[in-house]
Amino acid sequence: MCGIVGYVGHSNATGIIIEGLKKLEYRGYDSSGIALCTKEKELIVRKKKGRIANLEELIGDENLYGNLGIGHTRWATHGAPSDVNAHPHTDASGRIAVVHNGIIENYQILREELENEHGIQFKSESDTEVIAQLIGLYYDGDLEEAVFKATERMRGAYGIGVICVNEPDRMVAVRKDSPLIVGLGKGCNFIASDIPALLKHVRQIYLIENNEMVVLNANEVKIYNGDRQPVSREVFNVNWEDEAAEKGGYDHFMLKEIHEQPQVIKDTLAGRIDENGEIAIDSIHMSKEEIESFNRIYIVACGTAYHAGLVGKFAIEKLAGVGVEVDVASEFRYRDPFIDEKTLFIAISQSGETLDTLAALREAKAKGARIMSIVNVVGSSVARESDDVLYTWAGPEIAVASTKAYTTQLICMYLLGLYMGRKKGVIADDVYRRYVDELEAAPDRIREILKGEKHIETLARKLYRRNNVFFIGRGYDAAVSYEASLKLKEISYINSFATAAGELKHGTIALIEQDTLVIAIATQQRLFEKMLSNIQEVKTRGAYVLGIAKADSTEMDQQAEDVIYIPQCMDEVSPLLSIVPLQILAYYIAKLRGCDIDKPKNLAKSVTVE
Ligand code: F6R
Repeated sequence: MCGIVGYVGHSNATGIIIEGLKKLEYRGYDSSGIALCTKEKELIVRKKKGRIANLEELIGDENLYGNLGIGHTRWATHGAPSDVNAHPHTDASGRIAVVHNGIIENYQILREELENEHGIQFKSESDTEVIAQLIGLYYDGDLEEAVFKATERMRGAYGIGVICVNEPDRMVAVRKDSPLIVGLGKGCNFIASDIPALLKHVRQIYLIENNEMVVLNANEVKIYNGDRQPVSREVFNVNWEDEAAEKGGYDHFMLKEIHEQPQVIKDTLAGRIDENGEIAIDSIHMSKEEIESFNRIYIVACGTAYHAGLVGKFAIEKLAGVGVEVDVASEFRYRDPFIDEKTLFIAISQSGETLDTLAALREAKAKGARIMSIVNVVGSSVARESDDVLYTWAGPEIAVASTKAYTTQLICMYLLGLYMGRKKGVIADDVYRRYVDELEAAPDRIREILKGEKHIETLARKLYRRNNVFFIGRGYDAAVSYEASLKLKEISYINSFATAAGELKHGTIALIEQDTLVIAIATQQRLFEKMLSNIQEVKTRGAYVLGIAKADSTEMDQQAEDVIYIPQCMDEVSPLLSIVPLQILAYYIAKLRGCDIDKPKNLAKSVTVE
């Protein structure tokens, strides 16, 4: 949560930081702020509740100028969203300013100590102010030293950027369990929580590791490890285009990202299926014996990534012939799961920084599991702490609601199942070929679905005033129901609920009444008749049914009030297709309801708190 940006160089930092913050607004957007150091050794701080536009309005025509500055966009944890709780926070002397992404777990103890033993008066309720006050307490002419001493006292997660008026040419930053990167410019350097903030200015970055401190001036970046020993770092070259993080003519990032799915699926498959149709995944180094030795596989993730894991369970069990459990990361880490060296732990995460997923990964690692991850952000914490990484090449996903990350996660799940099954020798050649063909056909089939966008928009006009929606499905379709329901509720704020269709009559059906909208996903041939029975059950109680079915399922026409057809495909890969019209439907319903689609209320893109 929260985004930080910092600049040190010879230009005015104000515009650079505000532009960078706008690229990080997906990380949190309940307040924002900026602190600048002037050559006259003055500290200027401006901060405001609400979106970055509010901060810009506050600054207005003021000619703020400084060659050193830090900025922040917030997702509140300690202290309600307000001007005073917004970052940057300053120390009692007003010399030092801090921006922080994360949570200081022992902030209460530190605050009491600072108040009672040092007579420091706090201005805000934020845990971050404790950092600023601690650094101020230890400051004795050397910012680096003061920051180091302060971090020795801090527990929790933090990516911080610190500046001090007495040292107007340098910035200090530290990373512990919250992402931090350094951008290497010409005659200037940057810090940020994520790459999009810096794409306009740099392509070369350093990925900062846990417990490292960085000291930057316009010409030099020094990195120190937790023992304050200098470390060298390889430059990471970013090959994204700047436009990848822009809307490219679409009204919202979400719609753009929905439309990018054919291409990013292609990118995610590229290089992983060779010219002979064999799965070749360079980044996974597991022998046949190792794969055979796994007696337990856990897939662990949160939210949409967890829903991708539900599909992954089906795929891996079927293709690799081994039992798979799927767990929500926040539960997994506290339930003392059975793990040993014969366990394969698979983390799925778009950001690679989700704290619950990372903590579950560490728990599994400590108990000897082999760690594999499916991650979108290259060099993120989850990726770095894994034995094997299978990247989803989805590019930057900016909309808070995940779309292209989900479908590329599904691709990786299928690839992994095929890879393991092939190595174990448990997939028949013809079955294997069929899967490969189906995966390769997915981009074109999704393009077909996207051509039907107008029809889905029309349906959205019909349905957007509903207050309750139920999603039902069986098998793979049940897994898709959960994701479709999450998509709708998080951006439209409609109360939506998903359940396995067969489970409906065990309680939930009590909520079905005249005109209740039920979205029934029925793409599985084997389960189609059962789904028709479940549709009948809700229709008898007055439900209005929207069916999602394959192109040849004419019976659906007779059962449902409306139908969205998806192209023919093998049942097992239908989640790649069936989710797409439901992403589009959620998008248009939210749009018609006037919702802030890319930045839904109370949410943030990267959840780096428990
Ligand atoms: C919903 C959504 C979230 C994320 C979840 C995990 O659209 O995006 O549910 O899937 O917060 O995030 P990552 O994948 O970054 O670990």
